[in-house]
Amino acid sequence: MQIITTALLATLPLTALAGLPHVGSLRRRHFDHARKSTLATRAGTFKLVDDYNNSTFLDMFDFFTDSDPTHGRVTFVGKEEAKSSKLAFVQDDGTIVLGVDDQTVLQAGQNRKSIHINSKKKYDSGSLFIADMYSMPHGCGTWPAYWTVGDDWPNNGEIDIVEGVNEYTFNQITAHTGSACQIPSTLASTVGRVVGKQCQTIDGNNAGCAFVTDHDNSTYGHGFNMNGGGVYAHIWDEDAIKVWFFTRQAIPDDINKGVPNPDSWGTPSAVFPGGDSCNIAENFKQHNIVFDITLCGDWAGAAYASSGCPGTCDQAVADPTNFKVAKFKIKSLKVYQQS
Ligand SMILES: *[C@@H]1O[C@H](CO)[C@@H](O)[C@H](O)[C@H]1NC(C)=O
Ligand SMILES: *[C@@H]1O[C@H](CO)[C@@H](O)[C@H](O)[C@H]1NC(C)=O
Ligand SMILES: *[C@@H]1O[C@H](CO)[C@@H](O)[C@H](O)[C@H]1NC(C)=O
Repeated sequence: MQIITTALLATLPLTALAGLPHVGSLRRRHFDHARKSTLATRAGTFKLVDDYNNSTFLDMFDFFTDSDPTHGRVTFVGKEEAKSSKLAFVQDDGTIVLGVDDQTVLQAGQNRKSIHINSKKKYDSGSLFIADMYSMPHGCGTWPAYWTVGDDWPNNGEIDIVEGVNEYTFNQITAHTGSACQIPSTLASTVGRVVGKQCQTIDGNNAGCAFVTDHDNSTYGHGFNMNGGGVYAHIWDEDAIKVWFFTRQAIPDDINKGVPNPDSWGTPSAVFPGGDSCNIAENFKQHNIVFDITLCGDWAGAAYASSGCPGTCDQAVADPTNFKVAKFKIKSLKVYQQS
């Protein structure tokens, strides 16, 4: 999510960051890796640690029900309501569906029901996340995101893996930090295009550092869905945070077989390097995985008029037929760790 206010601070559970005792050793390891001056993923195999599958997914998330910190025209519902009104449920074929109410006719200015879920588990450096999705929300007024974030925003960082608004035809991948961190000008090759180099929230600028994949409309929205979706994979270690996208037709065998080998995946869509550019160990800690779909608000609302959408964003929200395709349809989400 691009813009998060302090309201979030009050609403996210505060965990015992005091329990992160190894700051000194993290620094030291970070320094050792930085000296190697390589962006290659460290050798080692990955072990599946969490399988968010059709039988476990909904139980592995908490449903966030406070008002949207990004000021969207939504009411986030709790788990029971989400299940009974099919805003979060598992289809007969095992697909996990997360969506927006597409039934209720509203008055312009009223909130539409939606979901915002946070994984119960938190993750740290050394994790590899693989999300396989058949479709994702899009459409006038929508602002969907799949992201990871630490407490005490922005001090423990945020990584937005899938995010966009309205009828965008490309994905934006963004990192947010609390202290100095940037995308260097001598960046390794990426498929995505850099649109912001400053990751740190500073002087009221909280846009983050970001890449867009505007060379390829299968990376987001309607184009993604028409193609049967695909896989977003990202690895977070002390050397770099890297994000890859594979269309359904191009998902590497090692991913399908459950033995992921990022070294074989080719050029990432986005790379946020560590080392001199960014102290990853200090800036990214203890992340929850989040899926949410908000409407209008700080980004989709602000960009509405320039997105080629009709009328106003509030008018779009009022009409349930606009949200028939505003759904994440998830095949699986797996988290691996280096062993
Ligand atoms: C789903 O994940 C759980 C652990 O989260 C695992 O025990 C179970 O075997 C998985 N089910 C399938 C069908 O893979
Ligand atoms: C859940 O996924 C497993 C493994 O992919 C599959 O065998 C099973 O049929 C799915 N469950 C449902 C309810 O569809
Ligand atoms: C995506 O781009 C291709 C090639 O330019 C084009 O043919 C197709 O219509 C576009 N699809 C969408 C959904 O915009």
